Amino acid sequence: MKIDLAFKYKDLINYLNKIVPFTPQVTIVLGSGLGDFAETLNIVKSISTTDLPGYPPSTVEGHSGRIIFVESENKKLLLFKGRIHFYEGYKIYECILPVFISYKLGCNKIIFTNAAGGIKKDYSPGDLMLAESFNGVNIKKELTDIIGIASAEVKNNLGNFTSSQLNKIIKQAAVEENIDLKKGTYWFSKGPSYETPAEINMMAKFRGDAVGMSTVHEIIFALSLGMEAASISCITNYAAGISTTKLSHEEVTETANRVKDTFGSLVNRVIALI
Ligand code: HPA
Repeated sequence: MKIDLAFKYKDLINYLNKIVPFTPQVTIVLGSGLGDFAETLNIVKSISTTDLPGYPPSTVEGHSGRIIFVESENKKLLLFKGRIHFYEGYKIYECILPVFISYKLGCNKIIFTNAAGGIKKDYSPGDLMLAESFNGVNIKKELTDIIGIASAEVKNNLGNFTSSQLNKIIKQAAVEENIDLKKGTYWFSKGPSYETPAEINMMAKFRGDAVGMSTVHEIIFALSLGMEAASISCITNYAAGISTTKLSHEEVTETANRVKDTFGSLVNRVIALI
């Protein structure tokens, strides 16, 4: 059954509306690898999510999220640092809160960034991938909580999500920055653990190119609200069984850290081109 988000987050949105410095033109959800991106830009206002009434508390002590208002390339941006992941035990209506906030603040463009395991044989850790399609088969049922029984208009919108204007801009930005941007299908995995080699084998057979534990429900919700959305993954590791080395969280953070400058320059260029 669809949750009434406007009612659920009424106090939070009212509070934010009183303190926001501007209406954002673009939202960027910062995944692993882009966490410090905001600090490289002109920060107008940074708010801890612990100050927001009803914002889900972080499960990691000392790592509360921030929502950051930034001006860059003559654009007004809203950045979300610290994601709300399904595998941490949050409800789906909590995971999509950054999207809901952006929408309520009048923003109609959102770019998701995330870390993902590379399934496709010619992907290597450090590659960046634009998601041209998504496999959300693992999260279909939960989606009814946030989009309900979709109207014909919403259903039609959801079918379009690989051909947005934003994807064109991202490809153009990669060309201008000399980045070999991969294009592929992002497969949602519920977690909480990384996948088994057998699971990755299945995803590979069904043409999944990268796997991660975020974004798909967030992007579907954004599209259901009529927002323009796109997703860029940082391939942080070979997915389970693709290489002989054992997958670890350390590898994910190490790679994300290694490519953060490239990732940052791509996103900066995207912002300039929007
Ligand atoms: N699987 C799922 N999520 C991930 C991975 C992975 O291999 N790497 C980074 N996030």
